[in-house]
Amino acid sequence: MTEVLKVDPLYPELDKIKKAASVIKAGGTVVFPTETVYGLGANALDAEAVKKIFIAKNRPMDNPLIVHISNIDQLYEVAKDIPEKIINIVKIVWPGPLTFVLKKTDKVPKETTGGLDTIAVRMPAHPVALALINESDVPIAAPSANLATKPSPTKAEHVIDDLFGKVDVVLDSGETFFGVESTVINVTVDPPVLLRPGPFSVEELERIFGKIIIPEQAKGTGEFSVALAPGMKYKHYAPTKKFLVVENRGILRDVIKELREKGYRVVFLCAHEVCKQFQEEKIEIIELGSENNLYEISRNLFDSFRKLDKSNADIGIIHSVSERGIGLAIMNRTRKASGFSSIYSIEDVWKYVGN
Ligand code: TXA
Ligand code: MG
Repeated sequence: MTEVLKVDPLYPELDKIKKAASVIKAGGTVVFPTETVYGLGANALDAEAVKKIFIAKNRPMDNPLIVHISNIDQLYEVAKDIPEKIINIVKIVWPGPLTFVLKKTDKVPKETTGGLDTIAVRMPAHPVALALINESDVPIAAPSANLATKPSPTKAEHVIDDLFGKVDVVLDSGETFFGVESTVINVTVDPPVLLRPGPFSVEELERIFGKIIIPEQAKGTGEFSVALAPGMKYKHYAPTKKFLVVENRGILRDVIKELREKGYRVVFLCAHEVCKQFQEEKIEIIELGSENNLYEISRNLFDSFRKLDKSNADIGIIHSVSERGIGLAIMNRTRKASGFSSIYSIEDVWKYVGN
């Protein structure tokens, strides 16, 4: 049985938080909102509780979880040998959408970290998440609350579609804010390595750390044999439709025209400004928001992927956006969702689609 509780995102009702916290303490699972996406949480220090997360999501056991904390004491509970510089940085950037990979303490069971001796930690900037961790009085391990093959959930209805009956409680606080998962950075090495771009931008990271390593994979411009983060070797979102990323805007019209001429039903995922240019084409459109505000696009991105899956089109087309700020995370998730089907010329289309 799954209990769904509506919780005010800014002023969480204490009785509901206490109810959910009692489930965490008893070794159960609670889905809760964060400022990025919804998380599927359990007591990070309880191996049996953590196993339930992997089972509910159908997640490979070697893909480690992010541990969520609500105060700095909990950081010392789960991580050790933390450089002084990093302590100073987390005190500035937390709570927020930045996850640090650090060395783990013995208190954290290996189930939580997928067998690794490092741990990913963050303090989420969401009143409901912070209240839940506080009341539970334990660090909460939580991957995104989707089935392993689906996009991360940005609305409670996504969670319910994927996990109803598989988790104990869902705290429904409406839409999440950023809509893409947190930035992950490995600070056990110097210079630090960006493992996953997110709302905390590369530009901000460089201001804080000076030099950081940004592997090509962080952009999502290619598959790779050795995974930087264990999660990277798994395809996060397997669309039921073909999904192409047109990186070269100049050929958008031709790509869509040729596909339609070949009899494909195309749905176009586009920024408001671009959609407008295709009004006359009588093409099915899923609007992503304004290009002048990439936060709007990041917030709608995963919902648009789910809409694409539910539409009766054969092929989804999306165009690229700027890689500045949160744009890098948008392009990373988009390229991955497409199975790295980036289109630069018309010929590229026929590499991915039957001619
Ligand atoms: O915004 C977020 O980060 C959301 C919310 C719920 O906080 N959580 C999230 O978790 O996206 P998840 O499990 O879907 O993604 C965690 C990523 C995975 O790619 C995983 O492989 C990587 O972080 N990761 C976790 N622990 C790691 C470690 N010790 N070393 C390297 N990568 C790690
Ligand atoms: Mg995930």
